[in-house]
Amino acid sequence: MPIAKKIQDFIERASWIRRMFEEGRQMKIKYGEENVFDFSLGNPFLEPPPEFTEALVQVAQDTTPRRHVYMPNAGFPETRKAIAEYVSQEQGIEIPPDKVIMTCGAAGALNIIFKTLLNPGEEVILLAPYFAEYFFYVDNCGGKPILVPTASDFSIDVKKLESSITSNTRAVLINSPNNPTGKVYSESNLRELVELLWRKSRKYGKPIFLVSDEPYKKIIYDGVRVPAIFPLYKNSLIATSYSKSLSLAGERIGYIAAHPEIEGVDEIMDGFILCIRILGFVNAPALMQRVITKVTGLACNADEYKKKRDLLCEGLAQCGYQFHKPEGAFYLFPKSLIDDDIQFVKELQQERILTVPGSGFGTPGYFRISYCVADETITRAMDGFKKVAERYL
Ligand SMILES: Cc1ncc(COP(=O)(O)O)c(C=O)c1O
Repeated sequence: MPIAKKIQDFIERASWIRRMFEEGRQMKIKYGEENVFDFSLGNPFLEPPPEFTEALVQVAQDTTPRRHVYMPNAGFPETRKAIAEYVSQEQGIEIPPDKVIMTCGAAGALNIIFKTLLNPGEEVILLAPYFAEYFFYVDNCGGKPILVPTASDFSIDVKKLESSITSNTRAVLINSPNNPTGKVYSESNLRELVELLWRKSRKYGKPIFLVSDEPYKKIIYDGVRVPAIFPLYKNSLIATSYSKSLSLAGERIGYIAAHPEIEGVDEIMDGFILCIRILGFVNAPALMQRVITKVTGLACNADEYKKKRDLLCEGLAQCGYQFHKPEGAFYLFPKSLIDDDIQFVKELQQERILTVPGSGFGTPGYFRISYCVADETITRAMDGFKKVAERYL
């Protein structure tokens, strides 16, 4: 075998997502792009606001010499300062600029965090359903992913978590608003979680870190609030990006913010700065850092996604599908109408509707619909959703 066995296994593991993507491409060639209802990818639909484009043009026109050479690995001082001010306001506690590291998206942030924290074989708890790439990130950094299911409403099941935390647990990874469920964890749910983490940290005589992956934080609906993590737990880290909130997924810009009192803060920050190099990122894209310095708190209008959520939820409810109405992000995670979610997704595919089976998120019996699509795609897909539902309801 020309490639590592592990990577070959991982390719197999992720193959049906790839297959879905490939089959979708073939279907679009066969039926025409507009006749395939592609809900498979979480690729942002909205355009970045004009303020972003203006900042980008300004930055691009600056011809100061040596603008494109190596730069500090952690990011430009002025960018870290702007982000630190923003996060201080968001979290309600003072975050100094040296507790911020600019990264290549949230994925880059998570990889740097795990590379820095994990000794070989140490465990990271993932709450299922979970973003499939988490598994690879943890493994890539020598860790062992441990899956713990969430409650039936997709909130954190703290009791289940209790029995999964061991002396070998290094971190718990949470994601709210959540991909794939759209769940936003309530403050009381998070308080229960951190109470458990304190208790277990004391028991094992070492901190259990809370890593909060927050790329969807600005995409929230119906006045829901995403509780700030830092005031709740000092051993916490935020990983986030502008990929979803500003539709900049291709530009790879995000950051890590560390709680200023996290245990071992200086070593952790030094670790991040080394690991951004080890992982080959070296630094986050310079151009985007300069742009983000000018538009730190800017976001696309989440109301546009809310309209799509409502259109989809109303349509599917009428067909008889069951789901928890998402409070944020741009995904819906309904129950599959048959036990075999992979088969169910195939049946939708016959109606030219592309979705992803829940098995890909560690939760069989469901499927994910990403509603980053035109309103028309949602309305035109309803006949297909209905036709499949009528077979089973
Ligand atoms: C939950 C979650 N975390 C992280 C990422 C990676 O985001 P980025 O593009 O900023 O690396 C994604 C992307 O889809 C995601 O859904």
